[in-house]
Amino acid sequence: MERIKVKQLLQQQSGSEVNAKGWVRTKRGNKNVTFIALNDGSTINSIQIVCETAKFDEELLKKITTGACISVVGNLVDSVGGGQSVEIQAKDIEILGVADPDTYPLQKKGHSMEFLRDIAHLRPRTNTFGAIFRIRHAMAFAIHKFFNDKGFVYLHTPLITESDCEGAGAMFQVTTLDLNNIPKKEDGSVNYDEDFFGHSTALTVSGQLEGELGAMALGEIYTFGPTFRAENSNTPRHLAEFWMIEPEMAFYEIKDNMDLAEEFIKYLIKYALDNCGDDLKFLNDMFDKELITRLENVVNTEFVRLAYTEGVDILLKSGEKFEFPVYWGVDLQSEHERYLVEKHFGKPVILTDYPKEIKAFYMKQNDDGKTVRAMDVLFPKIGEIIGGSEREASYDKLMTRIKELNMATDNLWWYLDTRRFGSAPHSGFGLGFERLLLFVTGMTNIRDVIPFPRTPKSADF
Ligand code: 4AD
Ligand code: MG
Repeated sequence: MERIKVKQLLQQQSGSEVNAKGWVRTKRGNKNVTFIALNDGSTINSIQIVCETAKFDEELLKKITTGACISVVGNLVDSVGGGQSVEIQAKDIEILGVADPDTYPLQKKGHSMEFLRDIAHLRPRTNTFGAIFRIRHAMAFAIHKFFNDKGFVYLHTPLITESDCEGAGAMFQVTTLDLNNIPKKEDGSVNYDEDFFGHSTALTVSGQLEGELGAMALGEIYTFGPTFRAENSNTPRHLAEFWMIEPEMAFYEIKDNMDLAEEFIKYLIKYALDNCGDDLKFLNDMFDKELITRLENVVNTEFVRLAYTEGVDILLKSGEKFEFPVYWGVDLQSEHERYLVEKHFGKPVILTDYPKEIKAFYMKQNDDGKTVRAMDVLFPKIGEIIGGSEREASYDKLMTRIKELNMATDNLWWYLDTRRFGSAPHSGFGLGFERLLLFVTGMTNIRDVIPFPRTPKSADF
């Protein structure tokens, strides 16, 4: 008999014999009847299995404990109890895998998020993480749909690279050299000739530079993949391995870039509201009573657009006591960003024209000689969710900046070629996928929106 997923069963008419497979969430009952809540991950909702106790072997029923995996054949009947439309009147139950109640860690509901982080291999079996990972999937799908519908090309950029796109020097080195016996040159430096690629390589911090090559040929591209940062930021908003979506568009100026970013993020949130209703309602009820309202507000509001200099003025005049000082030139901290978004404007803010010293080398330089055409999208509860810019299209200006920063050019020649051959105005941005998911799910720690978080001193699963 063909197994039917719980999501489908719950939408089906009663009357037929069906087979469901899944994991036992709870079992309760009395000597006459046993109720099992069965969940297979297809939906937040479990289906109720009703067993007349007398019709089943006592030993078998004993083994049906929380976490066990079972296959049930029975009649789909209208449910008498409230809360669900149909339930299964069990005829036959097979135990596919037991879960010893003495050792299975997910016995009760209401475990703390910290406890669940320590059992990342089992936490997808909770309602909360089931909901989060289904939403994560829906958002990934919506991202591809959004760009596909607009004719963007999904470009796969390499994970192993030689270049530090953001220039922050926070890269994980990739090597096959024996760390206990590192080959050295005569001057004492590492002899990378003996390494796998013949030179020093690392995991990418961003697909942007290669994305720009794509935009200069295909017009509009996006990347969506994992990126890696070895910054020692143990915060609720930083991961060492996170996913980023990076569109890059030829002929877009900064305003077009902002328009796309705003449209994109609203599309994704609306997609979640339209397609993840059950999961969002669960998270709204259990964790954050304002979640759905907050999502609806963002979809229906126009983002504020403001220059960095004006933002700093607002912060300076705010009278607010910040932990980190505010002055023109400062790299804004999350507390500053959140003040602007949550207290001052009460809606998302796109901050533009940052001081060039705090932004990456590739951003288009403004005529004032001090600022660059950067744009960060700042969100309530999160702070920076998107970072982007118009790119410097002039070879000479770009080279001047590269020299000012003392950057090596020998491994950037291919990037510089885009400015030598058919250069064009172009722009792009990067959306942190997990930051988006923090906003959409209402979770407060980024470790809880990725299945297997990597953070300083933690890469266990
Ligand atoms: O602002 P960032 O560093 O920008 C770039 O990497 C550009 N190359 C993007 C581009 O223009 N194509 O990072 C972009 C976004 C941030 O706004 C943030 O949402 C997220 O990536 N992000 C992180 N998310 C989780 N953990 C970290 N350590 C992150 N660092 C950045
Ligand atoms: Mg940034």
